[in-house]
Amino acid sequence: MQTRDYLRYIVEGIHSVVFATVDSMGRPVTCAIDIMDYDEGGLYFLTAKGKNFYGRLKGNDNIAFTAMKGRDTLSCVAVSVQGRAREIGADRLVDLFFKNPYMEKIYPDADSRGALTVFQIYEGTGEWFDLSRFPIERASFSFGGIQADEAGYFVTDRCIGCKFCRSRCPQACIDTAQTPAVIRQEHCLHCGNCLEICPVGAIERRNIL
Ligand SMILES: Cc1cc2nc3c(=O)[nH]c(=O)nc-3n(C[C@H](O)[C@H](O)[C@H](O)COP(=O)(O)O)c2cc1C
Repeated sequence: MQTRDYLRYIVEGIHSVVFATVDSMGRPVTCAIDIMDYDEGGLYFLTAKGKNFYGRLKGNDNIAFTAMKGRDTLSCVAVSVQGRAREIGADRLVDLFFKNPYMEKIYPDADSRGALTVFQIYEGTGEWFDLSRFPIERASFSFGGIQADEAGYFVTDRCIGCKFCRSRCPQACIDTAQTPAVIRQEHCLHCGNCLEICPVGAIERRNIL
C-alpha cells in the first residue's frame, strides 16, 4: 500500500480515532476525533474553538492518534500517526460537511457552525499494524516531506548462523537460510527475544526513542 492508501483507510475505513494532544503542563490528553478527509496535503479534522481540545492544539502542534478496526484483538488492524497539525480555518468546512453529512445532525445550522474550524495534519509518520494475520503484518509510511524513523532489530555480520534467534521468534519471521540471518521487518513484533538469545551479540536495535 502507498501512503495515500493508508490515509484513505484512516478516513473511509475507520474514521473515529483516539487522538492525543499535549496540554500546557506537558501532559498527554486523549479524546475521540473524526478524521474527515485526506489529500496530498495530509489529513483533515474539525473542532470548535470553544473546546479545550482547540486550546491544546493551538498551544502545541504535536499530535498523535491511533485508529483501530476489528471485533477483537486478533481481528484488529491499528493505524497510528504522529505528526503536526495547523489550523487552516473555515474555508474547507462546506466540503467536510458535504463528505460527512452526519455532521449536520450535530451542528444543524450555519449559526452553530460558526464555532467550527478545520485543522490539517500536514506532516506525519505512521504505522500500519495488522494482528489479524500470522505472522503479523506491519508497515511504515510518512507524508508532508518527512521520513519515518527506522525501528526494530537487525542482524549484523557477527552472525554465526546458529539459528537460535529463529527458535525464539514468536512470529517465525527470521530467515536463517542465509548468514547473516535476516529479520523480515514487515512481520516483526519488535519483542527483542532475538537480541536476548543471540550468543554472539550479533543483533542490534535501531533507534531507541
Ligand atoms: C465518535 C466521536 C467522534 C468525535 N469527533 C469529534 C471531532 O471530530 N471533533 C471534535 O471537536 N470533537 C469530536 N468528538 C467530541 C470530543 O471527543 C469531545 O468534545 C472531547 O471532550 C474533546 O476534548 P476536550 O473536552 O478536552 O475539549 C467526538 C466524540 C466521539 C464520541
